[in-house]
Amino acid sequence: MGHIFLYGPSGTGKSTIGRNLANNLRLPFIDLDRVIETTAGMSIPQVMEEKGEQAFRDLETAALKALINERNSVIALGGGALLRNENRAFAENSGTVVLLMAELDTLIERLRADSNERPLLAGDLREKLSSLLAKRREHYLSFPQVVRVDRDTVEQVVYRVQIEVGRHHLSAMGEYDVVVGQVGQLPNADLIVTDENVARHHLEGIKQTIGRDVPSIVVHAGEDHKNLNTVSILWEAFLDNGLDRRSTVIALGGGVIGDLTGFAASTYMRGIDWIAVPTTLLSMVDASLGGKTGFDLPEGKNLIGSFHPPKLVLADPGLLLTLPERELRSGMAEVVKHGIIADPELFGMCSRGMDRVKANIEGIIKRAMAVKIRIIEEDPYERGVRAALNLGHTVGHAVELVSGFELRHGEAIAVGMIVEAKYAERIGIAEPGLTDEIRKSLSALGLPVEIPKDLPYEEIVRAMRVDKKKNAQVIRFALPVEIGRVELVEVSDLEDIVARSDSDETIS
Ligand SMILES: NC(=O)c1ccc[n+]([C@@H]2O[C@H](COP(=O)([O-])OP(=O)(O)OC[C@H]3O[C@@H](n4cnc5c(N)ncnc54)[C@H](O)[C@@H]3O)[C@@H](O)[C@H]2O)c1
Repeated sequence: MGHIFLYGPSGTGKSTIGRNLANNLRLPFIDLDRVIETTAGMSIPQVMEEKGEQAFRDLETAALKALINERNSVIALGGGALLRNENRAFAENSGTVVLLMAELDTLIERLRADSNERPLLAGDLREKLSSLLAKRREHYLSFPQVVRVDRDTVEQVVYRVQIEVGRHHLSAMGEYDVVVGQVGQLPNADLIVTDENVARHHLEGIKQTIGRDVPSIVVHAGEDHKNLNTVSILWEAFLDNGLDRRSTVIALGGGVIGDLTGFAASTYMRGIDWIAVPTTLLSMVDASLGGKTGFDLPEGKNLIGSFHPPKLVLADPGLLLTLPERELRSGMAEVVKHGIIADPELFGMCSRGMDRVKANIEGIIKRAMAVKIRIIEEDPYERGVRAALNLGHTVGHAVELVSGFELRHGEAIAVGMIVEAKYAERIGIAEPGLTDEIRKSLSALGLPVEIPKDLPYEEIVRAMRVDKKKNAQVIRFALPVEIGRVELVEVSDLEDIVARSDSDETIS
């Protein structure tokens, strides 16, 4: 997946951030200045004094190029390490460069203690530093991926770097990596499972990038086929292709393919490895994360399943270029949901309409994924906070069912979020105006914001009770309080949630 280079002026905390980032991602950490000191057999101030800056820069280039043989690492660079074009080209071609940046005052405060260790800053620190920053201003500004470090704790900065690079390591339910990257980075595998639509657009290309003719099984597309029959077809394909307990299958597709393949993998020979390559927005930001697998019974969705996370989730935003517009919009409902639950900035990014979303889709995927990852790491088996992810889903699932699946999942969730937000406002736990704010955002994305007039409310209420628990009298809702925060609330008067929200609609 490439190295992660942390770059920027002295005092931005590249080594501390780097060490913590490496720890989170289970990667080795390399501090390039320490490598140079070991090679030179003296400290950097000594190198500068005895051999001069040019010689130091030569050592820096040599140390950087030696990284080509290292396995993927987090690397903290010196503050001028990428001034040479060849160094910069090397770093950008072998990984991702994230620039850490801070205000002058922050840097001065942090550097005061050890400015003697930094030869380019010896003397009047403020004067030296501001002139160095002015000299390098254009250079630093030319790096597209920037994380500011002024106000945040180390943990917060590391989290933002992880979002920026789209890399996570999950460990609450099995150990696995989640990476936003390109399918060219896929490791080898023994079988690809996909559906007919995805196969048409992407199967051959992916086989070529893996480098050998990996066998594949193509199943029918759509929720109608997320059933035991398709699971049996997959088990048989695993057997026919000689898969054993050490084999790995790739699930190339949306949430349906991920759920089916994950379940078949979890049960075949008591569990084999699988890799998720999500191809819908919904599966990138939601379905591929969290380890839930399964299939539907005629009696209801996802009634049979297991927890069996993939060994790797590789989300390549390029795969979305072939996704029908309606599917993309539907996925955006889950993104908005993640914004409402925990990320006001993400919510803001969604409110600017589909054109802006498409222009910034990679950044949106990275932020939305991060919200779910934080929650499932804290509560993998849904005993507490994971229930927050149900925002919009209690009403939404029922609306989806009663519509006879005419509404796409995300469309139904959009309606569900509005109904639940209105209720939260009525009972006084949400800020006044919250529903309008959410409605504007969803409308800008072309998503529906009210229950279709032809759907009977009694059926929606009945479906809500059955969805959660047969004839449940009390249901726990995740209700929005403000953008960025939800609360779990037990509700017994389900008619009130759905019916009153309709009369509000009529009045307004
Ligand atoms: N496991 C979980 O935690 C979890 C969470 C949320 C949803 N889900 C499940 O996910 C499923 C919904 O997922 P979905 O919305 O991705 O649906 P999906 O897998 O049915 O995909 C939607 C449609 O898009 C097509 N498609 C997919 N990728 C494409 C591409 N790149 N180009 C062209 N066409 C493409 C598919 O063939 C299909 O017709 C549901 O079954 C739901 O229960 C699971």
